[in-house]
Amino acid sequence: MSAAAAVAGSSAPSSMSGGGSGDAEITYVCYGGEHHLPLVMSLVDAELSEPYSIFTYRYFVYLWPQLTFLAFDAKEGKCVGTVVCKMGEHRGAFRGYIAMLVVLKPYRGRGIATELVTRSIRVMMESGCEEVTLEAEVTNKGALALYGRLGFIRAKRLYRYYLNGVDAFRLKLLFPRPDHGLPPIMIGSDGDEQQMDSPYL
Ligand SMILES: CC(C)(COP(=O)(O)OP(=O)(O)OC[C@H]1O[C@@H](n2cnc3c(N)ncnc32)[C@H](O)[C@@H]1OP(=O)(O)O)[C@@H](O)C(=O)NCCC(=O)NCCS
Repeated sequence: MSAAAAVAGSSAPSSMSGGGSGDAEITYVCYGGEHHLPLVMSLVDAELSEPYSIFTYRYFVYLWPQLTFLAFDAKEGKCVGTVVCKMGEHRGAFRGYIAMLVVLKPYRGRGIATELVTRSIRVMMESGCEEVTLEAEVTNKGALALYGRLGFIRAKRLYRYYLNGVDAFRLKLLFPRPDHGLPPIMIGSDGDEQQMDSPYL
């Protein structure tokens, strides 16, 4: 399912029952203020290889609180996943950017990351974004599979992008254009991007 399809088809429940390991009810909330910041930081610090300073977290959550979501195990009252994003003008396009995405190990494989990302993308679409980008380590099979399933294409390979020396793929999701007669997808102006199996073609 592409992100656009997920966004269009979802009734956006604020709470969902998961399958897989345990049947905990998962509740999704938008970033609600300073009390959420330590929850976001501890999840990301524990699970992502790239170190972020508190200034980086604040940059995202203060400027685009509507694009950060947290998933809670409703019974335990525990934060089990988060997505942190931004949006703005970039080379003449208004685009969204997914900066961080994490789900705690025992809660993986239940669609939590998909729901978090879909919620952010929905807000980006409603805000007029034309595309969404992010970087993922070329070795991160889980993230690449997740984003591929949502319709993201591999636009570029970035050599030794991360501090740990690993290359990144820049992934890109292009929203279908409303204009009739134009191709639904136009690849960026720098001309070095490779279009792969997009669900919109
Ligand atoms: C990547 C991550 C966020 C996925 O979270 P999740 O809640 O398990 O993801 P979902 O359940 O929504 O997965 C949706 C789809 O993604 C793919 N996927 C997710 N994890 C996968 C894995 N480890 N291996 C293969 N495919 C995977 C599958 O296609 C899956 O659909 P399916 O379960 O129907 O097959 C989680 O593994 C994580 O936090 N990893 C560490 C941090 C990280 O790498 N973040 C991404 C940085 S770019």
